[in-house]
Amino acid sequence: MLNTLLSHLNHDHPVQNGQAFAHTNIALIKYWGKRDTALNLPLTDSLSVGLPGYGTQAHVAIADGAHTISINKSPLSPDHPAWKNLHTLLDNIRNITRYNYILQLDFNIPVAAGFASSASCYASIALALNDLHKWQLSTAALSIMARLGSGSAARSIEPGFCLWQAGTQSDGMDSFATQLPTQWPELCIGLLHIDGSVKKQSSRLGMQHTQDTSVLFKSWPEQVARDLALMQEAITHKDFIALGETAENNAEAMHACMHSAKPALIYSQPDTLLHKQRIRALRHDGLPIYYTQDAGPNLKCVFLSEYKDAVLSHFSNMTIIHPFGSDS
Ligand code: PMV
Repeated sequence: MLNTLLSHLNHDHPVQNGQAFAHTNIALIKYWGKRDTALNLPLTDSLSVGLPGYGTQAHVAIADGAHTISINKSPLSPDHPAWKNLHTLLDNIRNITRYNYILQLDFNIPVAAGFASSASCYASIALALNDLHKWQLSTAALSIMARLGSGSAARSIEPGFCLWQAGTQSDGMDSFATQLPTQWPELCIGLLHIDGSVKKQSSRLGMQHTQDTSVLFKSWPEQVARDLALMQEAITHKDFIALGETAENNAEAMHACMHSAKPALIYSQPDTLLHKQRIRALRHDGLPIYYTQDAGPNLKCVFLSEYKDAVLSHFSNMTIIHPFGSDS
């Protein structure tokens, strides 16, 4: 796969430093389950919105000796959950370019806590290597390269709404994300920080476990197909209620699949449920706010900017992000 992307390029004259920032993204229609684990090929399409300014800054340079990797200015220790994956990726690239790398990753979001840090991480690496080697890869090729590190990273190359098509080819060359044309300046994402500690089960293992043991998972591809059609319709017509209802239902359906795995995979904490109940109660009282949840206890809310003050009055610690820039 990397060979198809990179072997025809010239790697001989890298510049001194490559760098790039990649934002993270939040899936409104989730990716959960793979058709190929080695290539991170998903079973279904998924759809996300990018969070500008929140993510990973990557710096990359050629190393004299072995690869060295640091995260937030500290050397990555071999027992870090990302150590193996990051080294495997760099080794695979070295097999083509013949270089070892110095890689520095700086995050402005919590790492491995269900805030999609792996999405911005692997997208920033693909972009920084492209900068270092002046490969001039297309956005589709960068999306594929980012995907090899972590599936959701495929959706962190371009801003806005991104649709990652599962594709059908066994080499994964048709499995990349593309940006949807809709801009929605009034749309807000609110991060509800419930717990920033490292999650117990990585999405990689959690996904496999769900796929292997959950009876409900059999209906997941059908759920995604239905939700994706509803979501695309909601985005095209800027129908906020349809977007919120579909995103929330899709996230709950993914967690239902996890809950029915054996043993159950539960990412929520008591406060997660408490906040979900508060959001639903507020909605019942007329405040249009919905949530989504990934492989961690934290929640991401969606609402429109006209309700920002009302939302903040209930959740004063919420971080509010404007995926399309602020409308005010
Ligand atoms: O890219 P991964 O392996 O971290 O998986 C991401 C899984 C979810 O965040 C739960 C869903 C998604 O589509 O981002």
